[in-house]
Amino acid sequence: MKSTWFRTLILFAMFAVCAPSWAADKLVIKADEDEAVISKYLYGQFAEHLGHCIYGGLWVGEDSSIPNTRGIRDDVVTALKKLNIPVLRWPGGCFADEYHWRDGIGPRDQRPPMVNSHWGMVTEDNSFGTHEFLDLCEMLGCDPYISGNVGSGTVREMQQWVEYITHEAGGPMSNLRKENGREKPWKLPFFGVGNENWGCGGNMTPEFYADQYKRFATYVRNYSGNRVYKIACGANSFDYNWTEVLMREARRQMNGLSLHYYCGSGNDSRSATQFEEDDWFAQLKRALDLDTLITHQSAIMDKYDREKRVGLILDEWGAWHAVEPGTNPGFLFQQNSLRDALVAGLSLNIINQHAERVRMANIAQMVNVLQAMVLTQDEKMLVTPTYHVYEMYKVHQDAVLVPAELICRKYQYKDDSIPAANVSASKAKDGSLNITLCNLDPNQPIEMECEVRGFKTGSVSARVLTAGDITAHNTFDQPQAVEPAPFKDFKKTNDGLTLTLPSKSVVAIHITR
Ligand code: AHR
Repeated sequence: MKSTWFRTLILFAMFAVCAPSWAADKLVIKADEDEAVISKYLYGQFAEHLGHCIYGGLWVGEDSSIPNTRGIRDDVVTALKKLNIPVLRWPGGCFADEYHWRDGIGPRDQRPPMVNSHWGMVTEDNSFGTHEFLDLCEMLGCDPYISGNVGSGTVREMQQWVEYITHEAGGPMSNLRKENGREKPWKLPFFGVGNENWGCGGNMTPEFYADQYKRFATYVRNYSGNRVYKIACGANSFDYNWTEVLMREARRQMNGLSLHYYCGSGNDSRSATQFEEDDWFAQLKRALDLDTLITHQSAIMDKYDREKRVGLILDEWGAWHAVEPGTNPGFLFQQNSLRDALVAGLSLNIINQHAERVRMANIAQMVNVLQAMVLTQDEKMLVTPTYHVYEMYKVHQDAVLVPAELICRKYQYKDDSIPAANVSASKAKDGSLNITLCNLDPNQPIEMECEVRGFKTGSVSARVLTAGDITAHNTFDQPQAVEPAPFKDFKKTNDGLTLTLPSKSVVAIHITR
């Protein structure tokens, strides 16, 4: 009797442990119910004067032996162009509130040097300035987003910068631009009035900054047909009071309000590739908090702006880990593993889902800093797992978000759990449907039934990004250790698909009509 009871208990325990991987999870895509347009600007990037993001990473100078065009690295531009980058934010970051743009124009050998006191106390020669940045944007085919200096700059300095870039002819700033070799004005669609003014940008209270914002923003003018979308400095992650005050006091003067969210490995001093499942779980859980954060920040904005006129601009986000051993701590150079690819995949799914309020998102940062697309070492270059996610997800740019309802099991780790899967779906202009899915569970695949409603399914193709180990990453010796591969583990059914998502993977499915 006792042994039968015991056997039953064992069988029950085995079922409880194993059932999650047998049970099919269910995804319903409502392809005939259009939600918001996923702005292409949700796939933006950020490049700061920090470590080797600009100097060495993007800019090597015209005399460098590294192949370049007007000083900008060819290999990096070629790789980045494949991402269809829509917008690039520059020059910071904390650097922005220390930067004086007039030091970065004119003949390069006459530009005064400066000390980058926020990032490593290194001396920069200002050889990468306004012209070089706008040249880079033209090479990438993206829009510029410039952050102005409120913390240590003047209203006049900010006003003249916008005039210098956008005023067509006959004024002092357009004349100066022409003297410096650029006849035509550039378009400057986005301008940030300060950065993190609650911290490195001047340690201001929200009330003080709201007044400063209104004063500075007044003089950010629209010259020669250019229209500037003005972005106010927003909250540090969960600081809801900052959002409340800015929306209450300054919403009429702004087009967008920024938000910064880093979900790094906290005080962990181990580098970005030294971690166990504990850290994997904790990291992905923190990344998922982005959904709660945007939901709450949007609710505050809704109180003052029900029509959603003001965009939430997530202009810095990403995973922030300890620097690579032996590198300058002030340079924020970190490796990028499969874990970062999952952070990128799930975060972009969340951001897509909030497309109604979020109008721009810029991952930090594009090259050699934090959760980068590209790492360089002298003349060598590699693309990271995060790069591949951006390449796989670019199909969502300017597509129409459609509801993707997912009932999925949990990824249980010790006494805690998170949803095992994460998804977003959109309809592209050519009528195709794109579904991006993440399996956050590092151990178990997910069997999924995917019902596609309101869409006549044509051909299906898919790619997967995964690896054998959670810490897998690309190195200069093995630059293709983590890269997308064709994904075949799906079957078409009468009403959609069934598929098996491999453990720890990002999958992108493309369905034509
Ligand atoms: O991206 C690195 C830094 O993080 C930025 O300079 C700053 O805005 C933020 O604190």
